[in-house]
Amino acid sequence: MKRIINEMKLRLVAKSVNESVARSCISAFAAEQNPTIEELCDLRCAVSEAVTNAIVHAYRDRTDPENCYIYISVRLYDSREITVEVSDNGCGIEDVERARAPMFTTGEPGERCGMGFLVMESFTDGLTVKSRLGRGTTVLMRKILKP
Ligand SMILES: Nc1ncnc2c1ncn2[C@@H]1O[C@H](COP(=O)(O)OP(=O)(O)O)[C@@H](O)[C@H]1O
Ligand SMILES: [Mg+2]
Repeated sequence: MKRIINEMKLRLVAKSVNESVARSCISAFAAEQNPTIEELCDLRCAVSEAVTNAIVHAYRDRTDPENCYIYISVRLYDSREITVEVSDNGCGIEDVERARAPMFTTGEPGERCGMGFLVMESFTDGLTVKSRLGRGTTVLMRKILKP
């Protein structure tokens, strides 16, 4: 059975400055395992998309971003698998399957391109999205580093 050998939990205010904070933190955490540059870039990109979504979409109707949080939970297993869970207590997603479809966006036309979930999926080894309307969303990604 795989065993957890390291763990990190972050709570970030849902402000766009924290997209780069999240990227830096995941880099620092994963770097300890000597990943390839490509693996590191993949992880940074995937985490960035999930965090951006929480900032841009989850709390879109809120006027008090300083009271809105994103929770990131990262685990490293002895099998060199890294799991990253990004969750929010925001508006939730009505239809997850539709939201995951390439080019689907609820953003303003020309503002967002609807490729975030596709990036998370293609840059990792697995993506699970759970959401409840009015309650929030949890995105779970896993990445297996080369031996
Ligand atoms: N954390 C979230 N909370 C609420 N809605 C979300 C969240 N993440 C994604 N969504 C919804 O899923 C859609 C697709 O997301 P994504 O593929 O990243 O495209 P984009 O962010 O460019 O719109 C978003 O437009 C939004 O409606
Ligand atoms: Mg997005």
